[in-house]
Order: sequence, then structure tokens, then C-alpha cells
Amino acid sequence: MKRIFSGTQPTGEIHLGNYLGALKQYVELQNGAECYFCVVNLHALTIPRDPADLREKTLDLAAIYLAIGLDPKKATLFVQSHVPAHTEAAWLLQCISRIGELSRMVQFKEKSKGSAESAGVGLFTYPVLQAADILLYQADQVPVGEDQKQHLELTRDLAERFNRDYGEVFVIPEVLIPKVGARVMALDDPTKKMSKSSDSKWNNIGLLDEPKQIEKKLKRAVTDSENEVRFDREQKPGISNLMTIYSALGGLSLAEIEKKYEGVGYGQFKRDLIEVTLESLRPIQERYAEIRHSGYVEEVLRDGAERANKMANETLYKMREAMGLLQF
Ligand code: AQP
Repeated sequence: MKRIFSGTQPTGEIHLGNYLGALKQYVELQNGAECYFCVVNLHALTIPRDPADLREKTLDLAAIYLAIGLDPKKATLFVQSHVPAHTEAAWLLQCISRIGELSRMVQFKEKSKGSAESAGVGLFTYPVLQAADILLYQADQVPVGEDQKQHLELTRDLAERFNRDYGEVFVIPEVLIPKVGARVMALDDPTKKMSKSSDSKWNNIGLLDEPKQIEKKLKRAVTDSENEVRFDREQKPGISNLMTIYSALGGLSLAEIEKKYEGVGYGQFKRDLIEVTLESLRPIQERYAEIRHSGYVEEVLRDGAERANKMANETLYKMREAMGLLQF
């Protein structure tokens, strides 16, 4: 059986990009693989956060995991900071990482806004923590959106380097990127990716947005003046992005969508997209409201922490042995 690991940061509102790029894959994978899905709250600390808010958002995200259909009997759901092995493994991996390779990480360049001098050290080294997250579970596959591809390459490089220098400890993980939805773009600027940290409220659709908000955001979503529903990422990035969302949520291929809206125009297309989006998110929102404050989420996370610690500690033991750290 394949082993899967992935994580999401409990920051901002979880949006359709996170869902279609990563979370929706988690639900499909839990039936045929041993899965570990983590709320990566240590990653959230790379940028200053309000402590009370971070605690709440950690539970919010775990509740979203459950609400989208993850089943704790099938998948281990847990919080990163509940498994101390992550931070120790990250240190061991930092000792074989190079400043040059971390300096090339696009996300670091973007998030530090080009001023490396004043950026946090945690922001710089967080891809190594991410590598530790994945490697501790000996994951064969890591379902993520396209923006994480470079970090996955680093994880593979570090695993190969460790295995070469200290002996075979790690499985080399593969990245798993969905065919549709790997890079959902911002609704108000389809040249940028949909993102939690955007300042604009028109950027994304949150999984927990009110139906009225969803309707407004989709109505305002940028298209073009052609009124022709045709997929062309270069020339028609706005409508192509909306078609991707429609396809991923509604189950029609891009060609089928083009055919359905031939000669119909953007008005009807957007009305139907609103319908498809509301229908897809309604059961998630209902389940979320049921469980978020019921005590169930905390119960699942306690159990998940126990299972995750067991797996992570086995690998950490091997890492320490391989590197010559005295263990009794
Ligand atoms: N726009 C996107 N399209 C497809 N997949 C996406 N992901 C993020 N944005 C998109 C995927 O969602 C998973 C969880 O992401 P994360 O929370 O760990 O961090 P992120 O990639 O930094 O997400 P955001 O929303 O863009 O947050 P900010 O604005 O804080 O940077 C990952 O698998 C990611 O690929």
C-alpha cells in the first residue's frame, strides 16, 4: 500500500485553490493508501501571527479536513506541533542543506519581497521543515498544488543526499499534482495565483464563504470582452481559470464546457458556475457547522497525534542512528 503525506497551513481562509489543488485529492486518496494529513501550524509561524487566532485557525482547518470528507478511520489527521519529531528531523536535515539551494526557493523570494536581510530565518529554512514533515512518514506520494513543486524537488534532493551520505533511510517521494486545478488563479487578477494572504477580498472564494459572497465574487471575476467560453490560458486567462474551477467542481471536461456554452456567452456560464460552486460547497459548510464546536475535532486530533508520533519516531530513530547520535 502506498503511503501519502500532505499538509496545509492554518492561515487565512482556506480557498478553492487549496481545495482543488490539494485537499480534494486527499479525499480521493484516503481509500487506497495509508494517509497522513497534517495541519502545519509550525509553518504558519514563519510570519508573525496572533497566538489566539492561530489556535482557532488550527481547529478550523482540522474541521475543514473532516468536513470535506476525510475519514479519521482511514487517514491520520494531526497537528504538526503535536509531533516533536518534525522539528528535530528538520534540524538534522538543515545540517545537510545548503544556503544556495534554499536561496533559490521562489516562495522565499516572493514572501520576503526581495529583502532577504530583514526576512525571518524561519521563512528561509521552512522548506527544510517541509522536507522533514514528508520524509518522517516515508511518503511515496505528496499531493500538492503546482506552487509546491520546487519544495518537493528540494525534499527529494535532501532525501537522496542523506541516503547517499548516511545510508538508506528515506523513501524518495513523488509529487502528485492534479490534472485540473493544480494552479487556480485569483478571480480579480488571473495572472496571479489564488492566495490566502492576498489583501483583496475579491481574490479568492473561501470554502466557508456565504452563498451571497460567492455569488458576488464570481459575478465580479475578471473575464475579457470576447464573450466566448474558450480555454486559452495565455490569451484568455480569466475565463480559462473559471472554466478550470467549473471543470474541477462540476465534473465536465474543458472541451465539454466549451461545447455546452458555444454561442451562449459569459452571463449564462457564470450563473451556472455559481450554481455548481454553491452546490459543491453546501455539504462541506453544513458538516463544518455541525462539528466545529462539538469536541469531535479535538478528539480526532488527539488520536491522530498518537498515530503520527509512532510513525515519525520510528524514522527519527533511524536518522539519529545513521548520523551517529548516541541513543540508549
Ligand atoms: N492557487 C492555488 N491553486 C492550486 N493549489 C494551491 N495551493 C495553494 N494555493 C493554490 C495548494 O494548497 C495547499 C495548501 O497550501 P498552504 O496553505 O500550505 O500554503 P500556500 O501554498 O502558501 O497557500 P496559499 O493559499 O497561497 O497561502 P499564502 O497566501 O499564505 O501563501 C498546497 O498543496 C498548495 O500547493
